Amino acid sequence: MEVERVQTLAFQGLKELPPQFVRPADERPENSKATEGIPVPVVSLSQPMDALVNDISRACSEWGFFLVTDHGISPSLIRQLQEVGEQFFQLPQEEKERYANDASSGKFEGYGTKMTRNHEQKVEWLDYFFHVVWPPSKQNPATWPQNPPSYREVTEEYTKEVLKLTDKLLELLSRGLGLEEKTLRSSLGGEEMEIEMKINLYPPCPQPELALGVEPHTDTSALTILFSNNVPGLQVWKDGNWVAVGHIPNAVFIHVGDQIEVLSNRKYKSVLHRSVVNKDQVRMSWAVFCVPPLDAVIGPLPTLVDDQNPPNYSTKTYQEYRYRKFNKLPQ
Ligand code: SIN
Ligand code: FE2
Repeated sequence: MEVERVQTLAFQGLKELPPQFVRPADERPENSKATEGIPVPVVSLSQPMDALVNDISRACSEWGFFLVTDHGISPSLIRQLQEVGEQFFQLPQEEKERYANDASSGKFEGYGTKMTRNHEQKVEWLDYFFHVVWPPSKQNPATWPQNPPSYREVTEEYTKEVLKLTDKLLELLSRGLGLEEKTLRSSLGGEEMEIEMKINLYPPCPQPELALGVEPHTDTSALTILFSNNVPGLQVWKDGNWVAVGHIPNAVFIHVGDQIEVLSNRKYKSVLHRSVVNKDQVRMSWAVFCVPPLDAVIGPLPTLVDDQNPPNYSTKTYQEYRYRKFNKLPQ
């Protein structure tokens, strides 16, 4: 089926936003402005262990979101990853379409744009590329772009670095919850834990005050590790306000996702967030989702549950969690 890509639309010189992108009044950025100047937590991984565990634990319980500096991923590798992502989206349209996903038939990996099923349903101002990058046995080689030629090598290199960072973060979060340092990682499937990559492309938008790049959501993952091309747009929900996330050179953004909220019995919060778009700049972001395998059974960890802290969630497979979230059923 022919899909209208946002990238194609955006470069036709539109003066007005097509109606499927016009959000209901209360969702529009013009009516739900972000508060500027509120500092979001920034955590340096190079500080002493006790202070580090303390800082991360506070950020996870108060925000579910923080920036990490001194994370060990080299700026040049991040730059290379940005370049191969940019080059993919610059390919001729027919070449990108060879990787088109088809969510209606269960093919979630590949090049995608959300479509409206009816006139009431609004869509987001972005195109994306999504695929599983770890473990190698779960990769689907046909979905990996052949161009640019270095896409695979750079992406695999980055994935390995992100895995190391994820391990470190899961150890710190485990300690912050008073658990053995390997507890969260093994609860998320241990060696079976998966990594998915989503590259978001937000083209310039003719009426950004009426549109959203990504609508408000929490991530279904355990953790999400993200950086952008330094164009602002990410906003996180804190104490009843949207807070615009500023830019710190070479820092990565960490979102606590639903699976950590469930395992921690809500001691750590899955952060509500959205992204907004702008009139003249292309924004891109690279989100890496760290997720359990579909058959992992996830529920509040027994040591975090007692008479004073009854379980806030039922225990179920990740597959069932996803199904319930997608269908807006209680967890
Ligand atoms: C997302 O959360 O899905 C995207 C966030 C971003 O682009 O910064
Ligand atoms: Fe997200």
